[in-house]
Amino acid sequence: MNRESPENQTQSPLVDRFDRQVNYLRISVTDRCDLRCVYCMSEDMQFVPRSQLLTLEELYRVGKSFVDMGVRKIRITGGEPLTRRGIMQLFEALGGLDGLEDFTLTTNGTLLGRYAKALQKAGVTRVNISLDSLQQERFKRITRIGDVKRTLAGIDAALEAGFKRVKINSVIMKHRNHDEIPALVAFAEQRGMDISFIEEMPLGETGDHDRGELYYSSQEVLHDLQPHYDLIATTESTGGPARYYRINDSDTRVGFISPHSHNFCDHCNRVRLTAEGRLLLCLGQEHSVDLRRVVRANPLDDEPLRQAIIDSMAIKPKGHEFDLNAKPVLFRHMNVTGG
Ligand code: GTP
Ligand code: 5AD
Ligand code: SF4
Repeated sequence: MNRESPENQTQSPLVDRFDRQVNYLRISVTDRCDLRCVYCMSEDMQFVPRSQLLTLEELYRVGKSFVDMGVRKIRITGGEPLTRRGIMQLFEALGGLDGLEDFTLTTNGTLLGRYAKALQKAGVTRVNISLDSLQQERFKRITRIGDVKRTLAGIDAALEAGFKRVKINSVIMKHRNHDEIPALVAFAEQRGMDISFIEEMPLGETGDHDRGELYYSSQEVLHDLQPHYDLIATTESTGGPARYYRINDSDTRVGFISPHSHNFCDHCNRVRLTAEGRLLLCLGQEHSVDLRRVVRANPLDDEPLRQAIIDSMAIKPKGHEFDLNAKPVLFRHMNVTGG
């Protein structure tokens, strides 16, 4: 990208050292969750004390500052975002921002029965729902405490609420759920949803769970699907990391998120805000800026916040260095990071 060209002179100031434009903010609104997925958390997690979280108003200030500077996509994540008290206020406030083109949510679905309609009314365009198994026993084993019926009811509620798109996210683990790949695609296809298959990433220790042993590559997933589906590679993007295939004669896209087998850091367009107000410049590195301090030191002026965000571009790393066979380099779990 040439920053001297006239069209780029009016561009957002959120461009990093590698000329990557940041136009996507992921906000984790809580590290708490009503499930305990084996790849995400350990069984006994210590959560951040509520007093240390950004307030909903502070989360809004940060989100608005990003949109003012050219961010066009916000995704609310967690933990489970819908467990945070009063969260609809934040959805309603961010949903009203001019300039926000894609307002999305990643959720485990357990509370969508209660919130789906209100989320759609607040301006949420797309919802991604985690579902790694359709089988009751297995779902319980993977989530440690979940009931698949609740998540399935949440998916139905999302479909009824009229979002532009509903997508299933499945983390595939060898001998845990890899035999369900075609069944999960059939489930998504029957309901006109997209589905993404995710290679597990090594964030935090999660108990007796050997990530190297459970690794199942996107290539293997694709191979397992080929006898069942005519999959056509596309260049479509949702602004996220997935590479998509279309199923012939269907509306459903099958995505692959392959941090190990197909690194996508060169095209990274996003940063993450943790619930404590730490701006993480990469999912797989510790480079970060404490925005909570800036927000609280300047309660009536967003300019220092905007400047801190612009300055953070200088420390955005080139990419992650995940190694499933080594100990996780990051202590931080996925529920803190926000996916
Ligand atoms: P779309 O907007 O629908 O494309 O969503 P998304 O895939 O960006 O977001 P989602 O929250 O559904 O995340 C799906 C998976 O992608 C999760 O496992 C995330 O951790 C992973 N993911 C998202 N962004 C990145 C990234 O920058 N790097 C890596 N390695 N994984 C990512
Ligand atoms: N590796 C890959 N994906 C993960 N998720 C949670 N933990 C991990 C991990 N260690 C997924 C969830 C959810 C999304 C936000 O991230 O299944 O769909
Ligand atoms: Fe909760 Fe999502 Fe982590 Fe599962 S992956 S424990 S649903 S935050």
